[in-house]
Amino acid sequence: DEVTPGALRWRSPSNIALVKYWGKHGNQLPQNASVSLTLDAAATDTTLHYRPRRETGAGVDVTLYFHGKVNEGFTERTRRFLEGLLPIYPFLRQLSLRIDTTNSFPHSAGIASSASGMSALALCLVSLEEALFEPLPNADAFFRKASYLARLGSGSACRSVYGPAAVWGTVSGLPESSEEYAVGIADRIHPVFQSYHDDILLVSRSEKSVSSRAGHGLMEQNPYAPARYAQANQRTREMLDILRRGDTEKFGQVLESEALTLHALMMSSQPYYTLIEPNTLHVINILQQYRRETQHPVHFTLDAGPNVHLLYPDAIAEDVTRFIQDHLLHFCEDRQYLADRVGKGPHQL
Ligand code: PMV
Repeated sequence: DEVTPGALRWRSPSNIALVKYWGKHGNQLPQNASVSLTLDAAATDTTLHYRPRRETGAGVDVTLYFHGKVNEGFTERTRRFLEGLLPIYPFLRQLSLRIDTTNSFPHSAGIASSASGMSALALCLVSLEEALFEPLPNADAFFRKASYLARLGSGSACRSVYGPAAVWGTVSGLPESSEEYAVGIADRIHPVFQSYHDDILLVSRSEKSVSSRAGHGLMEQNPYAPARYAQANQRTREMLDILRRGDTEKFGQVLESEALTLHALMMSSQPYYTLIEPNTLHVINILQQYRRETQHPVHFTLDAGPNVHLLYPDAIAEDVTRFIQDHLLHFCEDRQYLADRVGKGPHQL
């Protein structure tokens, strides 16, 4: 039967890893378990338009519009991703696809958009499967499939399909956990963490980060890799316990060590990467001083770049906002930061 043209639309957020994924094996499988909080404001809106293809070619017929304009780079990356899915989604060959995608955050913010972008697209694809064939048995199966597809696009994206937190990788004591997809852990998160803030200080808005493909690859030769993978698995279990108990102090200790360990791994790879900048360290030092003075549980983490994420409970939000404005904006490019919070996960538009 001829497919009736249609469109599907999802908004999916970014996520911030508390315990980091760095190092992979096989087909986008993680070397260690990781756990993340899902964000709210930093998100991608994606519309997938589909219609029958006039002539079925070898690959996938897709064009990607980013903020209203054809984007050749993203189109190529998306085509490769979709062609990789042909063994499970052969029907993609019979369609003409147009993808319209926009990010809620400024493109030049130095914020990686692969997690929100790939998860939004993955959710559209599972909705497309349902539109063309039959609904998946239940919501769990739907999001698990979306997480699986998102992982094939960008590893950390598999954690973005659940709010307010997700685990990816096999964890003892979490029987549903898997290397192939992330699982939501909403019912294991203490209320204090459900209302956490994540303010992203834009130390640098240029995207100087190492391509994550290259970064993960370098772990294969990193002499610390085996110890790191064991540590991350142990910390994932510890973090799950912390998130359940609402222990903001222990949370901060693991969080900050994870950030610095990620960068230590990049610095101890060959070739090495030094992605933190002088202002990253200035922010960290001033934060430590602020913490000594106030005893407030506000802690930092980092992604594969120089920007600093400040995580803290809602109860101290007013104080922390004032602290950022008075003491930290000076170290941010154009005095810019993004105020974000833990979010409830993606939704269909
Ligand atoms: O998802 P990727 O392949 O871009 O890897 C990103 C890994 C980090 O963001 C550095 C850490 C993480 O777990 O999100």
